[in-house]
Amino acid sequence: MREWTLEERYRVLQDAEEIRGLHEKICKSVYRQTYHVQPVTGLSSDPNGFTCHKGKWHLFYQWCPWGAVHGLKYWYHVTSTDLVHWTNEGVGLKPDTFYDNKGTHSGSAISDGEELYFFYTGNHRDENWVRTPYTCAAYLDAEGKPKKLPEPLFGPRPDYSEHQRDPKVVYNEKNSTYYIFIGAQTLDKKGTVLIYSSKELLSGWSFAGQLHVPGYESFGGMWECPYIVNISGRDLLIFSPQYTKLPGRAESTNHNVYMIGTMDYDTLTFTPDGEYHYLDYGFDFYAAQGASNVGDPDKAILISWIGLPDNHYPTEEEDWEGSMTLARELRIKDGRLLQTPVESISSIIGEELPADGTLPAACAVEVNVSAGDADLNLFTRADGSGGMRLHYSDAEKTCTVDRSGMNKRFNEKVGEVLTMPLPDGLSSIRIFIDRSSVEYFFNDGEATFTSHCYPTEEEFNYTASDNVSLKIRSIRPSVRDDFAV
Ligand code: FRU
Repeated sequence: MREWTLEERYRVLQDAEEIRGLHEKICKSVYRQTYHVQPVTGLSSDPNGFTCHKGKWHLFYQWCPWGAVHGLKYWYHVTSTDLVHWTNEGVGLKPDTFYDNKGTHSGSAISDGEELYFFYTGNHRDENWVRTPYTCAAYLDAEGKPKKLPEPLFGPRPDYSEHQRDPKVVYNEKNSTYYIFIGAQTLDKKGTVLIYSSKELLSGWSFAGQLHVPGYESFGGMWECPYIVNISGRDLLIFSPQYTKLPGRAESTNHNVYMIGTMDYDTLTFTPDGEYHYLDYGFDFYAAQGASNVGDPDKAILISWIGLPDNHYPTEEEDWEGSMTLARELRIKDGRLLQTPVESISSIIGEELPADGTLPAACAVEVNVSAGDADLNLFTRADGSGGMRLHYSDAEKTCTVDRSGMNKRFNEKVGEVLTMPLPDGLSSIRIFIDRSSVEYFFNDGEATFTSHCYPTEEEFNYTASDNVSLKIRSIRPSVRDDFAV
């Protein structure tokens, strides 16, 4: 693993030409994705500013240009008309003011139909490296680029720790008020959310209070990237609690959870209907963000970072890492969250390939499982050994995924085996394999499992138990590695 000095990590990009060579180099990697958004160079992490505006989808990702390292963060901009084909647009927000001198950190966007507005964290650090997070705003200008407001909307509150960031803007129609949810940490290091309100988007913001989530007063040390949305009359709260281990998550201290419940904006209380759930049960899934302005009260669209903070991936040695998940539709049915790939994914799914025990590097797999225990091992060697091994136990109603058999192992200490509950058993899986990721959607979206994987040439095989039938289909590329900076 390369050691980076602070200077190298926080170097300001002056000219696109400084990273052209890096781009040309990483484009040759066998692990470059073909239908997932990935960094133009360096590192991509959280999805930001995800929204639909005038018929076009805008997505940004936290971007560090220089390599697979968390340093000076930009917002890198991609757009789409169908949530499947994505175009690189270049830098969206860059850290070029006093308020964001050490990074334009995560945030969200909202369209009022006419204008598109962005809310992000200006990560300021002084010469002693003391951090002050500012909540800043921008709007899309006539050239289609975010233009910053000269002053932040508000600074941090002194009665919370320095961890106050990731503004998520929402509009509450009932009282015609905008709210910003900020991921935060109390002075005694408990994760929480701070809420600000305003009648206008670019002015008038004042602190409304801390979000109350009964039963969750002491749940993780920081709640990153909060997101709230109403789906079919229920409220869905998503956030990424940090600095804590949670049941069934091996040694990981970074998680992404959701709760379904009721948000009361008068008392700033989110009352969960029941327990929290993992938004995804996989190894590499964090900082998910739903889009604003989806235009359908019965669904949300969500994208997440395939990756985790503080973790390391094999492409680090090639000077890049990270990817976005596919865009997913979220629905609530019978009190449960269902997640399915966006329907438009069918536009890139091609012909059926022989299910002969070999796997293409990018494909969509439909799996049907009949009664009993089941095994499906992807990326095995030709003799069936190794691979990413999935085992379903019918007695326990759980699915276990073990990636320790793959040639390229990584983040071993965080955990290579995870088990997820499938209370109603296992009947089907839709799997999306790209060159360095795999996403499983179980039982029409009741549970999902996302992981990076870096198969070597000898590992493009699979094995399955007799009660598992597979249909493998080719998938056409839908992202291009254009050098737009
Ligand atoms: C989550 C996060 C956010 C922050 C951003 C910085 O991964 O830590 O809280 O805004 O990344 O890149």
